[in-house]
Amino acid sequence: MGALLLAAWVGMVQAQVEEIDAHTGKLHSLQGDTALQYNKDAERLRDPVKDQGIQDRQYMHQPPLVPHQVRGYEVDLKVNRCLACHGWKNAAARGAPRVSPTHYETRDGMTLGDISPRRYFCLQCHVPQTDAKPLVDNTFTPVESLR
Ligand code: HEC
Ligand code: HEC
Repeated sequence: MGALLLAAWVGMVQAQVEEIDAHTGKLHSLQGDTALQYNKDAERLRDPVKDQGIQDRQYMHQPPLVPHQVRGYEVDLKVNRCLACHGWKNAAARGAPRVSPTHYETRDGMTLGDISPRRYFCLQCHVPQTDAKPLVDNTFTPVESLR
């Protein structure tokens, strides 16, 4: 039974991410023509949706979506452009929401005086939006209290 279910699931996943070209017999996947042992270069962000206003969250502890463009916002060892607006020092003056106190906590629950290294790379969790067609169907609905 378990094996059957797994087989059905694998079949579904394959149907969604792979497609065999009827003419060439070549396999298309989300990885494109890149061989499995290589990482495909990330696609460029296309037509990010601009200034859409604060978006509803879909579940508790969801990192809120980025409601504005981030093109050219540098985040590296020396500069963090996001914090220039969202850090506690500047947020009020920039009219931006401040990062929450969780962003100052280490994984051991210590609260630091500055942003925690594990929350430094903002786009790891917060993602800007583009008007893209979903790659796979999704029937997720938020919990009652967030609808
Ligand atoms: C020039 C100032 C500025 C910069 C730089 C900036 N933001 Fe923002 N951000 C804002 C403002 C203002 C809002 C509120 C938008 C609104 O109310 O419509 C916002 C909203 C957000 C939100 C939504 C918060 C919520 O509660 O829903 C997230 C997430 C966010 N920004 C992430 C980022 C990230 C990540 C970066 C860096 C890549 C960044 N921002 C850079 C000004 C900025
Ligand atoms: C490891 C994932 C992660 C990283 C990295 C991260 N965040 Fe968040 N962020 C979250 C989550 C989860 C929430 C919602 C729950 C919370 O506040 O912790 C959040 C909430 C926020 C909010 C809304 C705060 C509020 O009070 O509603 C803002 C603004 C924000 N983050 C900005 C940033 C910026 C700017 C950075 C980079 C300096 C960043 N985040 C890095 C996960 C992350």
